[in-house]
Amino acid sequence: MIPIRSSVLRMEPYQPGKPIDDVKRELGLERVVKLASNENPYGPSPKAVAAVKRVAEKMHLYPDGSAHELKEALSTRIGLPVENLIMGNGSDELIHLIGLVFLNSEQDELIVGDPSFSRYDAAAQIGPSRLVKVPLDSNFVHDLAAMSRAVTEHTRLIIIANPNNPTGTIVRKAEFDRFLADVPTCVLVVLDEAYFEFATGAGDFPNARDYVGAGRNVIGLRTFSKAYGLAGIRIGYGFGPAEVIDAINRVREPFNANSLAQVAAIAALDDEEHVSKTVENNRRGLEFLAGVFVEVGAKPMESFANFMYADLGRPARPVFQALLERGVITRSGHALGNPTCLRVSVGTEEEMQIFAEELRNVMSTAGAR
Ligand SMILES: Cc1ncc(COP(=O)(O)O)c(C=O)c1O
Repeated sequence: MIPIRSSVLRMEPYQPGKPIDDVKRELGLERVVKLASNENPYGPSPKAVAAVKRVAEKMHLYPDGSAHELKEALSTRIGLPVENLIMGNGSDELIHLIGLVFLNSEQDELIVGDPSFSRYDAAAQIGPSRLVKVPLDSNFVHDLAAMSRAVTEHTRLIIIANPNNPTGTIVRKAEFDRFLADVPTCVLVVLDEAYFEFATGAGDFPNARDYVGAGRNVIGLRTFSKAYGLAGIRIGYGFGPAEVIDAINRVREPFNANSLAQVAAIAALDDEEHVSKTVENNRRGLEFLAGVFVEVGAKPMESFANFMYADLGRPARPVFQALLERGVITRSGHALGNPTCLRVSVGTEEEMQIFAEELRNVMSTAGAR
């Protein structure tokens, strides 16, 4: 018997959205649309694709371990020195590394919202350290007052997904400022801004960059997986106080940001047109989805991301299953503690029409009750 850390055996493996080909094969379907992983329905920037093709022939060489050029491009873009930046193999990796670096005993505590992004749980469980889950408020928004009340002498980290996954809701600047003033400066506050590009138009959005620029105990996380459409090539970044970035840099793998991802990200950053088209289409998509949910008697939450969470007012699991059998992959809230909620990503117009039609069918049949 090979001994395995008990904390590892207690961890739940990540459950990804079902892949399209699996659903086609398992259910014998020809037409399957996946609205389950908050990907960019318009794909990557063509400039990113061209850049990847150009460097593909050099994939026998190790990447630039410091991601110098990409960090320079980001530094100019967000106005922070490169010492404050770190790249990750997706922001998932940075969440994992932050857990490894800042949680190092069973007493150490990580505070998160509930429900929020499941990878935060894993960051605490691996230690193992204590995971403190603070329920969202009645509007499905992070309850920052309750989160700051949950802080103890053992709290090391607080992670706030802003916008939150799965709800799409945001915390506002005034609330966040009050919260940050209450949290001891020895606690690192992570603002996970995976959906930043979709939310930044909201006037009172608390931009993590501004807090880092002001030298606060905040680290921001962003990704190229969502608005930039590079989920498959894996690249994300973090920005925070130089000593925090330096610590994470010590534990990361030397070549965690691969060479294709680095050039893709540089090209994608340059293609502002692609991002603004994505954000504009997303705004229209959210309006459409909200209308469809209301039409079937569900309550959609106000979303600042590229997906929508809605309370169906009945168990979501059978609705999720019935949609799946009709070739539409969504996410059911039953595994997230909201058994009547469904999460659906914004897709292309055609994909969303299919979703709308199938949701109407499913919600009007007794089988889904
Ligand atoms: C809130 C949040 N953070 C981080 C991630 C991870 O993104 P990636 O690892 O693709 O950068 C996701 C992905 O869905 C997310 O929803």
